[in-house]
Amino acid sequence: MSVPAHVAIIMDGNGRWAAQRGLPRIKGHKAGVRAVERILEAASEAGLQHLSLYAFSTENWKRPAGEVMALMALLRIYLRVFLPSLRQKRIRFHHLGSREGIPPGVLADMDTLAEATRNHEGLCFHLAVNYGSRLELAQAARRCVEDGLSPEAVDEAALNDRLWTAGVPDVDLLIRTSGEHRISNFMLWQAAYAEFHLTDCLWPDFGPAELRAALDDYATRDRRFGGL
Ligand code: FPP
Repeated sequence: MSVPAHVAIIMDGNGRWAAQRGLPRIKGHKAGVRAVERILEAASEAGLQHLSLYAFSTENWKRPAGEVMALMALLRIYLRVFLPSLRQKRIRFHHLGSREGIPPGVLADMDTLAEATRNHEGLCFHLAVNYGSRLELAQAARRCVEDGLSPEAVDEAALNDRLWTAGVPDVDLLIRTSGEHRISNFMLWQAAYAEFHLTDCLWPDFGPAELRAALDDYATRDRRFGGL
């Protein structure tokens, strides 16, 4: 059975999960973090090489300041508390996104986690924080200019090598939870030939069984990459 090398997930529905229970939105995000922990373990066990999780987009700064601050605080707690489990499972951590505008404490914690896990040979966990595909592509184009490339040298490989995902294989399977059918500026380039798995499950309810269902769904797909 074919296992995708790179799975990317748009984790959506934390707010609705909380609202259904009469709880503040931040409780939904906290439950979302627990789902992240479960999925990291399940993805490791399933033998995935790369897992990219969309935690905070370049557009999410438009949310109320209180929610943004709470999400950043949650991120810091997560980055510190879960280091031992990343060590134990040999998971490598990598931040995906622009560093500009991220609070220095969050950046420092992400750098520490990346450094502490950089020799791990297991699953590579890419956490998208302050990520937006359009910004990523624009900065890759700018870097081509800064690197002095001639117009002829600006090809797909040149751009690919300057994305935040440089060196990471394309997304094979893109999952979005909570019943929404949008790509929301996530992996526009990398998901060019990704298979989509859309589920009504809200992110805090997403667990190993839902990941297994997505992988089983993927295994049934006939991928032709535009060929016959
Ligand atoms: C979407 O739900 C979720 C987010 C914008 C944040 C995702 C964040 C987490 C899962 C927690 C942080 C992760 C880590 C690793 C610390 P929503 O708020 O848009 O939900 P709604 O559409 O139901 O309102």
